[in-house]
Amino acid sequence: SETGCLSIIVLGASGDLAKKKTFPALFNLFRQGFLRPNEVHIFGYARTKISDDELRERIRGFLSQGKGASAEHTEDLLMFLQLIKYISGSYDSEDGFLLLNKEISDHESSKNSQPGTARRLFYLALPPSVYPSVCKMIRRYCMNQSDLGGWTRIVVEKPFGKDLDSAEELSAQLGELFDEQQLYRIDHYLGKELVQNLLVVRFANRFFVPLWNRDNIDNVQIVFREDFGTEGRGGYFDQYGIIRDIIQNHLLQVLCLVAMEKPVSLKPEHIRDEKVKVLQSVLPIKYEEVVLGQYEGYRDDPTVSDSSNTPTFATVVLRIHNERWEGVPFILKAGKALNSRKAEIRVQFKDVPGDIFKCKKQGRNEFVIRLQPSEAMYMKLTVKKPGLDMSTIQSELDLSYGLRYQGVTIPEAYERLILDTVRGDQQHFVRRDELKAAWEIFTPLLHSIDAGELKPLSYQPGSRGPAEADELLARVGYVQTHGY
Ligand code: BG6
Repeated sequence: SETGCLSIIVLGASGDLAKKKTFPALFNLFRQGFLRPNEVHIFGYARTKISDDELRERIRGFLSQGKGASAEHTEDLLMFLQLIKYISGSYDSEDGFLLLNKEISDHESSKNSQPGTARRLFYLALPPSVYPSVCKMIRRYCMNQSDLGGWTRIVVEKPFGKDLDSAEELSAQLGELFDEQQLYRIDHYLGKELVQNLLVVRFANRFFVPLWNRDNIDNVQIVFREDFGTEGRGGYFDQYGIIRDIIQNHLLQVLCLVAMEKPVSLKPEHIRDEKVKVLQSVLPIKYEEVVLGQYEGYRDDPTVSDSSNTPTFATVVLRIHNERWEGVPFILKAGKALNSRKAEIRVQFKDVPGDIFKCKKQGRNEFVIRLQPSEAMYMKLTVKKPGLDMSTIQSELDLSYGLRYQGVTIPEAYERLILDTVRGDQQHFVRRDELKAAWEIFTPLLHSIDAGELKPLSYQPGSRGPAEADELLARVGYVQTHGY
């Protein structure tokens, strides 16, 4: 049953992730009626010694910024904040977790929850170093007692390890405490509207079904750019770098959805089975198909080592060794402190054989899926230039969400994913074997970078990144088109 009392426990409640992502997502769900005051309670847990009201004040301060100045918003926010209780304790303290359990149990009995029907959702907005101890404490002291439809679920955030061995170790530790069905590994890119749309576009449209293969597609680019650096997060970032921060998870998950075979059904296991197969088919990365960069000024951050070799930019070509994709480069590119903020997928088609229009130089057919900002899908194609002459130009068939779906609010990724967790839908979460296969692809390269065998090239903040990356793209066959 999904009707028992629901407790959402945010561990790391006083931290940045909780403030910027978790609580706002919970608030949005509350506003839309998905979290009902008569059955939901939210518990914050962290080390910081503050009162309920101080935590509420922090959250209120963040949530009342900007757009939400309406009276209705303020009223909703006050109601929402009343659902939140704060408990302070350390991440390995029995007392802290016993107290947390007592608070949750009291709440459950105050709602007259039937024994065994209670639902407990633990959201770990914490650094991974404390996952094992926190999970042990939850397992020991905070599980609900019976299983008459009730459940305990654990949501964890990346980074899940630093390489294959550390990730496997973490998986084993969590795996001893919880079943895979209880573990929700968030990759928030899987909660983005246009990422979720990939499955539909690819498998529900005759336009794409027969063309989506090596016979027609020349190359695929999956690109992430940010126009700001690691401000304020240098200490974290320097330990990880752009490959672990963005490529090995967010972009690789997108690649899976672009490249996978049609799943047997929409069941989460069927979808994840296909994603794993793609990852397992990726060939070892060739270092001549990698360009790394680090923006000038990155090391000025006092929390970053002066001799840091950490890339803030990377372009990596992946090759999928299967019948559909043999020979098609999948170019994953991500960078901080570049000239714009954008995430998109560009599927570039091959030239039409026997070109009678001599229009090759105008560019190729390209299908672009822009994840953000301004969600859109557009197809770049050649048309007759309107007018008396028989000449051609590049144009677009354009589906811009802002225009086509005016008035529709696109949910935030975290909002959607937390709701999935409450509903028990693991489709948009990373399975253990998927995680392992993802680390297998990048671990050798990451070890070479960590050992200083590969060095990032320097680039200007606000630029396109190292010019060598554009040269690599051209070398593997990408043809720059103009216009959009
Ligand atoms: C996070 C990374 O996972 O994703 C950040 O740790 C990055 O470095 C962020 O800024 C980007 O997310 P979005 O949704 O803004 O593209």
